[in-house]
Amino acid sequence: MSSGEGQAQIVGKKKLKETRVKKEQIDELYHLLRVVSNGDISTEEFARTGRPQREVNRIFHGLSRHLLAGGDYDALIQFSAYYGSRFLLKPACEAIDKTGWAPVGIVELGAGFGWFGRGVSALFESIPCLFVDKRHWVLIDIVADLETEHGLSKVLSAMREGDLIVAADLLHCLDDPKGIMSRFSKWPMAILEYCPISNDYAESYTTQLRRYGANPLATEVFEELFPGRRVDIVDIDPYILLLVEAEK
Ligand SMILES: C[S@@+](CC[C@H](N)C(=O)[O-])C[C@H]1O[C@@H](n2cnc3c(N)ncnc32)[C@H](O)[C@@H]1O
Repeated sequence: MSSGEGQAQIVGKKKLKETRVKKEQIDELYHLLRVVSNGDISTEEFARTGRPQREVNRIFHGLSRHLLAGGDYDALIQFSAYYGSRFLLKPACEAIDKTGWAPVGIVELGAGFGWFGRGVSALFESIPCLFVDKRHWVLIDIVADLETEHGLSKVLSAMREGDLIVAADLLHCLDDPKGIMSRFSKWPMAILEYCPISNDYAESYTTQLRRYGANPLATEVFEELFPGRRVDIVDIDPYILLLVEAEK
């Protein structure tokens, strides 16, 4: 090999971007990607064609970019909607059903693509669902930042007595979840939050949260977020579902 070629190789080598994600976490993600790309999920497309669903692959790859390199929030939302409706909706709806709540409407905070609000409204024979988010996702009825007084008033003025608040993966995005939740103390709530106590690889979530400046939450702090209100915690590993009664 000539010295020129050798130099070209060195120049052509990219320095790997430093990441705080541990090797085990990348292994876990890689494992998930392989499971998906092997078609180990029963989708209509897979059943019909024998090929894994391309859309799902795209979402997973986008998610890995989001986790490892930052950005691609859209892929995170798509992944959340896919994961949520596939694995969380049924146990969450069953638990909500047992509460005996009989809401007249649903208000979903931090709705994203709204899979949770839609699922819960279907449980109550399709009562209306109002979707709230600070970003302009497709379904959103009220664009409002809950971390601003203006955003909060916008949402509060649209709420009706008898509504049920639902939220999935929102609390960790808020700097002051307790303060914001206290503004909604008149309403019962069903809140899903990622809380991977039993998976050691899931520390990546905390890493991701820190990178974006959000606060990771531990299970024991969840009850403290709703002072004076009854909170039942349902384990839907790696999520928890908080069933919060309205303030008496
Ligand atoms: C991790 S995503 C979860 C989305 C959706 N609930 C799901 O489970 O697929 C968090 C969502 O909360 C929204 N969000 C974050 N901070 C917010 C705030 N301060 N006010 C309103 N929405 C917020 C984001 O725009 C995003 O859609």
